[in-house]
Amino acid sequence: MEQMNHITALITGTSGNLGTAIAKRLIKEVPHDKKLTIIVTSRTLAKANETIKQLVDYNNNEVKRSGILDFDYSLLDFTDMVSILSSVYELQKNHKCVDIIYLNAAQGVYAGIDWIGATIECCSNPIKGVTYPTYKIQKVGVKSKDNLGLVFQANVFGPYYFIHKLIEYKLFEKSDNPRIIWISSVMSKPSYLSMNDLQLLNSNESYEGSKRLIDLIHLATYKDLLQKHNVKQYLTHPGIVTSFSFFQFLNPITYYGMLFLFYIARFLGSPWHNIHGWIGANSQIFTSLYADPLNGDIQSVKYGSASHWNGKEYIKVDEVDDSGKADVLKYFDELTNEWDEKLKDQIVNTRTR
Ligand SMILES: NC(=O)c1ccc[n+]([C@@H]2O[C@H](COP(=O)([O-])OP(=O)(O)OC[C@H]3O[C@@H](n4cnc5c(N)ncnc54)[C@H](OP(=O)(O)O)[C@@H]3O)[C@@H](O)[C@H]2O)c1
Repeated sequence: MEQMNHITALITGTSGNLGTAIAKRLIKEVPHDKKLTIIVTSRTLAKANETIKQLVDYNNNEVKRSGILDFDYSLLDFTDMVSILSSVYELQKNHKCVDIIYLNAAQGVYAGIDWIGATIECCSNPIKGVTYPTYKIQKVGVKSKDNLGLVFQANVFGPYYFIHKLIEYKLFEKSDNPRIIWISSVMSKPSYLSMNDLQLLNSNESYEGSKRLIDLIHLATYKDLLQKHNVKQYLTHPGIVTSFSFFQFLNPITYYGMLFLFYIARFLGSPWHNIHGWIGANSQIFTSLYADPLNGDIQSVKYGSASHWNGKEYIKVDEVDDSGKADVLKYFDELTNEWDEKLKDQIVNTRTR
């Protein structure tokens, strides 16, 4: 990114803990004399405005960039295919190109926490209990209004279709160094996904299954993206950070109890308990601003944000099992063609909807 004078970065779901941290790190780490444009996405105008205000305040109070810093927003809901199309349509009207896309937005369909299971898991093996929890209760069979598996669409197919449209609308073409950063999870092992249920409609671990799908879709597409479109795509995860989306299920006692266990896990040697969004954003910032496939930063692995016991950050790289990637890609491409056909006459401006 060194040679570019203007960097335009879009972060999906910017209002979340990690999304805001990525934006703040960009404000701090992109060389201050360069022009930086941050495109915030949210499902609501109120949150988009609130997030932009927070980032403006952060720059004014703490960073004070010398170069131009500006913001735009796009109202984007990945569970609504028309919203995706409208967002891309607007982006190509308002921006010459997008240099970095962080696919950060995600949601689960949670019904609560199995407190008895949580107590047993955290007492019998505290590190495992707060790294690979199985006590978050997820609803099964939830569909979007587009009649797709909701978590499948929100976390993987929606973002995949978004990228497909950004390419079609040539939004990467004028960038000197375009990048796509997928955000997966430590919880994405192959057993979370059944190849007979790619929309995750029969799964009670749909969130984790969607993260496994992200791993596979990255592995199935990164080579073509580089060869055909000059886009460097990387796969990352933030380790474990506090998430705004889970606050609704916690009270002050359980929230601070969880935080306490996170610190204990980190102290006992867990590399993944970053806790703070800032540290969680390390792998996304590394892969988007500094990594170079030609310098050995290969794209076939997963870059995780990790920290030592004292919170000092580092990047931990892991191999990813790629079995099933060709079948996943075939399924995604067929579904993409189906939606291209359904949406071919549909253009809606999200700001006037
Ligand atoms: N927290 C962790 O420990 C952890 C661990 C592993 C991986 N991750 C991954 O890291 C990323 C960020 O995590 P986080 O904890 O910061 O998440 P978060 O606080 O839940 O924020 C995610 C953001 O996504 C947006 N969003 C949700 N559903 C959406 C949809 N259907 N369409 C478009 N945007 C949607 C929301 O923004 P609006 O409400 O403004 O639309 C929300 O602010 C996610 O991909 C998550 O899976 C997190």
